[in-house]
Amino acid sequence: MLKPIGMTEGHYECRSLDETLPIFTDLLAAEVVERTEKQAVVKHPNTAWKLVIHEGGPDSKNKPHTNHYGFRVASSKEIPIAHQYISEHKAQYKIKSVTPPHEAHFAYSIYFKEPGGNDLEIEYYNPAAIKQGRRIAAPHWTTPIPEAKFPGRGYLPQAMTHGTLNCDDKEVSDQFLANVLGLDIIGGGRTSTYISVPNMGPWYVVVLPMAHRDYLSEANRFTLKLASPEEVEAAHKDFSKNGKQLGIQDLRELQTNGRAHFLLSDISKNWWEITS
Ligand SMILES: [Fe+2]
Repeated sequence: MLKPIGMTEGHYECRSLDETLPIFTDLLAAEVVERTEKQAVVKHPNTAWKLVIHEGGPDSKNKPHTNHYGFRVASSKEIPIAHQYISEHKAQYKIKSVTPPHEAHFAYSIYFKEPGGNDLEIEYYNPAAIKQGRRIAAPHWTTPIPEAKFPGRGYLPQAMTHGTLNCDDKEVSDQFLANVLGLDIIGGGRTSTYISVPNMGPWYVVVLPMAHRDYLSEANRFTLKLASPEEVEAAHKDFSKNGKQLGIQDLRELQTNGRAHFLLSDISKNWWEITS
C-alpha cells in the first residue's frame, strides 16, 4: 500500500490554453504560475494544490460533468451573483452554458462549461456542516482574498476545493483507494465517497459511481506524492509484480529524470501519477 504524503496536483486536458486560462484567472481568481507552449500550471493563492492544464487541441473530447473541479466562495449570496456575472460574460469567454444556482444539503452551487470541454463549479458550502461530521466543510483558507484583488465581479472564489472522479462500483473503488493507494476516506454517503491524503488537505476528491463511463485519458489525473524516490521505486516494483491482482489496469514505466515518477490506471480506469 502506498503512503502518500500529499495530493499535490490535478491534471486536466483542455482544447486551447489561450481560451481556458482566462477562465481560471478572470472567473475563478486563480493564477498562472507556469506556462509553456502546450502546458500551464494554474494555482489559486489560497490552495497549495496545483492544476496542470494540458492543451490537447481542438479535437479533445468533452469530459463528463462528474469530472469537474470546484471553487468555493465565502457567502451563499455570491452564488446568484456569480451566476449572473458568468451568464453575462458567456460570449466573451466562449462558455457553452451556465446552470442556475442549485441547492443541495449544505451546498449551493453553479456549474459552467468552459470552452476546453470541462465543467467547473463555483460552490458555497455551509460551515455548519462540520458539526455534522462533514470534513469537507472544514475551512479552505485562513486569510480571505480581498475584493481589491478580484474587483468588479461581485463574487470571489476563495479556494479550489475539490476534483471529481467516476467509478464503476463504490465498494470496489473504496477498497482500492484506501488499501492500494493509501488514501483516507473522509466522508461520503450511499453513493459518493470523499477521499484525501491522510493528515493533508483540506482539498479532496469526490468519487461517484456511474452506470455509463467515459474513460479519461492520462492527461486527466491526480498526483500523489510519496516521501522519497526510493518509495516510488519500491511501489513501482510492487505494482509490476502484484498490480494485476490489486486491480491496476495499466502501469507505465518508471521515470527517473530528476524525480522518480510513474503513471497507473486504477481499478476504475482512472489515472494517477505517483511521484517523489
Ligand atoms: Fe463538485
